[in-house]
Amino acid sequence: MIREMRAAIFDLDGVIVDTAKYHYLAWKRLANEYGFDFTEADNERLKGVSRVRSLEILLEIGRLRVDEITKDKMAAQKNEWYLDYIQRMDSSEILPGAAEYLGRLHSNGVRTGLGSASKNAPLILDRLGISSLFDAVVDGNKVQRTKPAPDVFLRAAAELEISPDCCVVFEDAEAGIQAALRAGMGAVGVGEPANLKEADMVIGGLFQLMIVG
Ligand code: G6P
Ligand code: MG
Repeated sequence: MIREMRAAIFDLDGVIVDTAKYHYLAWKRLANEYGFDFTEADNERLKGVSRVRSLEILLEIGRLRVDEITKDKMAAQKNEWYLDYIQRMDSSEILPGAAEYLGRLHSNGVRTGLGSASKNAPLILDRLGISSLFDAVVDGNKVQRTKPAPDVFLRAAAELEISPDCCVVFEDAEAGIQAALRAGMGAVGVGEPANLKEADMVIGGLFQLMIVG
């Protein structure tokens, strides 16, 4: 299908900024505290997935069963460690080409949105100094159902006042690509083609779109 891109909606972690590595380090530390290992391959399953669901997957990997109070404690601990990394972040951690591409879209009249499962998204945009590059920010605090449900992207399209079939999503997670397709939007995978099989096309990073002009 050929579509006119009137709005571009971006995932945050792994597309605009490499926070995926900090999520990974914090989850790994939690797993190690509870006596099991957590690999980068395991981490692929957590990309784009909410904090609560991520913890459930982690517990599955460690074959651990814990009560709800312990679950809350574990999720809070992971977030505390994650925030330690985030507080130290600055604009040097914006991924190559991301700010430039957003700027170019703006000058070409394309609306820009953020569609992230992260409840920390506004804080991260603020730390990076790029909040103003987005016309709409939809994060994990604004929707109930997270990716692969289409809600986060549909909400962004509604806030941008652009019909879903004129929106293109940029995503590094399989769950995010599925969410975009369910929303009836174009889906550009950012990362390894092997991890993003359902995407309409896959690029290595937003910098590639600056090269092709
Ligand atoms: C993003 C990341 C996930 C993360 C989720 C929730 O989608 O890809 O790895 O679990 O956000 O993030 P939060 O900052 O709310 O824990
Ligand atoms: Mg992501």
